[in-house]
Amino acid sequence: MKRTPPDTLALVDQLADHHCLPLEGYQQLIEDTSELAASSLAKLADQVRRPIYGNKVYLRGLIEISSICSRNCLYCGIRCGNPNAERYRLTPEEILACAEEGHALGFRTFVLQGGEDPWFIDERLEALLHTLKRRFPDCAVTLSLGERSRESYQRLYDAGADRYLLRHETADPALYAKLHPPEMSWENRMQCLRDLKDIGYQVGCGFMVGAPYQTARQLAMDLKFVEQFHPDMCGIGPFVPHHDTVFRDQPAGGAALTIKLLSILRLIHPKMLLPATTALGTIDPHGREKGILTGANVVMPNLSPVGVRRKYSLYDNKICTGDESAQCRACLEARLRTIGFETVVDRGDVAK
Ligand code: 5AD
Ligand code: FES
Repeated sequence: MKRTPPDTLALVDQLADHHCLPLEGYQQLIEDTSELAASSLAKLADQVRRPIYGNKVYLRGLIEISSICSRNCLYCGIRCGNPNAERYRLTPEEILACAEEGHALGFRTFVLQGGEDPWFIDERLEALLHTLKRRFPDCAVTLSLGERSRESYQRLYDAGADRYLLRHETADPALYAKLHPPEMSWENRMQCLRDLKDIGYQVGCGFMVGAPYQTARQLAMDLKFVEQFHPDMCGIGPFVPHHDTVFRDQPAGGAALTIKLLSILRLIHPKMLLPATTALGTIDPHGREKGILTGANVVMPNLSPVGVRRKYSLYDNKICTGDESAQCRACLEARLRTIGFETVVDRGDVAK
């Protein structure tokens, strides 16, 4: 085991007391791979979460509405430049059927996630949102459909969307440029996030852990960005290679580092909604449980029709692609129960 530099634990205390660190402090916490640093962060993160969220974990029903994407992010299996990706698009009726099933299973938040599929113009999404909100007035609807214009975000908000997830991917424009084709713009992505917040959405940003070329300094920049942007949610998960991308031979991001970052994020913003992601469960069979124990408070079981799940393939070996929605929910609930947490039937808004 590596020796902990004497001031790492002082940094951990500083973070717990002040909910922020200088960039170098975040970097040092990331670079310190000692068990002691990780376990003290985990313990403090759990401690600050208890008075706010107790042992409750919020469920979000994930509906993957389309694998058609006009973007070409270099790491992603459904990028438009991948001729081998299997494409599908759910009809509004299929999406509503997933929500119906989810509602009966106790979900009160639906996350409509998909590639940037041009079929989903504002009019179609507005109609879908109106129907969803009419049929399930007790539910929150989260959209995760990539970059759109401010006008479009406004229309979807007016049609009833409550939340929007758009990972910033990296706070470093230079790394962004290495992971995306030249026509994609880091500035625009950041502008989208500001627009979403401005409009009134509950906003989620996020980033991959262990992405190709990513350094500890760049991860520290992500933490600083989240500290300053103060989103309602932050979704992080390890990078996992996809066989049809240029990064096919890159190693996956580490579970231990992802979990440590979840603890740090919990200490930065004690009330933030933090999912234990499917990617974390993919690289470590108990990754999601560990993530919850060390600070995460959201899980997103899959409600997509079983027939399409395999096709929503952002990375290899994704878990849960063969399970029915009810199985996914039961499986997660059992996993959480073994570690002393319970799922709640609730919209699960961010604590104010
Ligand atoms: N590994 C892990 N996460 C990925 N994403 C896309 N491709 C991968 C991959 N290979 C994440 C991105 C994106 C979200 C939808 O999925 O962060 O924003
Ligand atoms: Fe669409 Fe990456 S190519 S999200």
